[in-house]
Amino acid sequence: MKFTHTFGAALVAALLATACGKKEEAAPVAAAPAPAAAPAPARTSVEVLHYWTSGGEPKSAAELKAMLEAKGHEWKDFAVAGGGGDNAMTVLKSRAVSGNPPTAAQVKGPAIQEWANEGMLASIDNVAQAEKWDELLPKVVADVMKSNGNYVAAPVNVHRVNWMWANPEVLKQAGVAAMPKTWDEFFVAADKIKKSGNVALAHGGQNWQDFTVFESVVLGVGGPEFYTNALVKLDPAAIASPTMTKALTTFRKLKGYTDSASTGRDWNMTTAMVIGGKAGFQFMGDWAKGEFTAAGQKPGEGFLCAAAPGTANAYTFNVDSFIMFKLKDEAAQKAQGDLASAILSTEFQEVFNQNKGSIPVRLGHDMAKFDDCAKLSATDFVETAKSGGLVPSIAHGMAVEPAKAGAIQDAVTQFWNDDKLSVAEAQKRIAAAAK
Ligand code: BGC
Repeated sequence: MKFTHTFGAALVAALLATACGKKEEAAPVAAAPAPAAAPAPARTSVEVLHYWTSGGEPKSAAELKAMLEAKGHEWKDFAVAGGGGDNAMTVLKSRAVSGNPPTAAQVKGPAIQEWANEGMLASIDNVAQAEKWDELLPKVVADVMKSNGNYVAAPVNVHRVNWMWANPEVLKQAGVAAMPKTWDEFFVAADKIKKSGNVALAHGGQNWQDFTVFESVVLGVGGPEFYTNALVKLDPAAIASPTMTKALTTFRKLKGYTDSASTGRDWNMTTAMVIGGKAGFQFMGDWAKGEFTAAGQKPGEGFLCAAAPGTANAYTFNVDSFIMFKLKDEAAQKAQGDLASAILSTEFQEVFNQNKGSIPVRLGHDMAKFDDCAKLSATDFVETAKSGGLVPSIAHGMAVEPAKAGAIQDAVTQFWNDDKLSVAEAQKRIAAAAK
């Protein structure tokens, strides 16, 4: 557990050491395949499990496919629908247990170590060393990608989770002049939107979405130190504290601003309510921005982005990554190296992250072509690393081992769904799940 508890703090230190003022260097990736004259390389089928299946996400996955095909391989898509990846992880486990894992899979955070501990992952150190990943990545991101000092996973991006999205027209119609900065301001704005006949808060009732909202509330109500104590270190005193009581009370109050059809709704259908002018706000990580962008909307025009109330000085991070499975076939091993190399290339980081809504994981990447929300994310990532506000997302598997994180999420979802369950009882259940 030391690994998970120190994740945020170590990232802060690593960023301070390397993030400031580092200029983008030429990507030290292997040269692109030579044109025509070179003999055509054998096409190896590369099966990649991912859960990028919403409206805008396949466009992001397609970037990876295109880069891999450019290196002469064949992309075998293994897409498993289901936001947050719970379904994908279930399918992956059954494939791996039957001795037939894919080439690579979208797995992140402490779960990478769990797979490595099973002895199932391949080292991609040859690529990582040749391309100097230790210098390109924040140290602690790099550490999470390694097992026994060897890289076994390649990081794709940095998603910020504590965002609030809004439809400016819906706000205007309701007489809401600005994005709320505190929870009190949020409820004033939400009351106005409700009165105007629209849904104030678009929400999809699935446990990972409930927890995505909950962790932003905890961060906004308690601040980054409390968040870390309660949700990363799982300190029983913090979970039982009046601050947690206040966070749960605030979280429950939000439910009164959601619509009756929210149960089970997918996150992208929820974002579609904001895009279509049916709802005012949504709390969701910046993969939601991929949906706004795919719908042709621009920040500041079709939609607005701001940190969730009370969290402007904090940043819940979520790093997507791909683990590489141990495979016997040499051509498949070479393809894994090519995949890893493509993922970290400047070219991929630039295009993929503009589609996905995230920011590049490579330090010092030039943000000139990114939109204003991404620019804010990049600045806040570095600033919060300095101030102590950079914290891992629990809802997105960055801090707590999967089984425990799942149990805590279930407790929060039970509280969200059952209006009769008291706040004190919810605190007890979260504490029990966190043990
Ligand atoms: C992943 C994102 C994904 C989102 C919705 C998050 O946990 O990090 O890449 O877009 O879930 O499925």
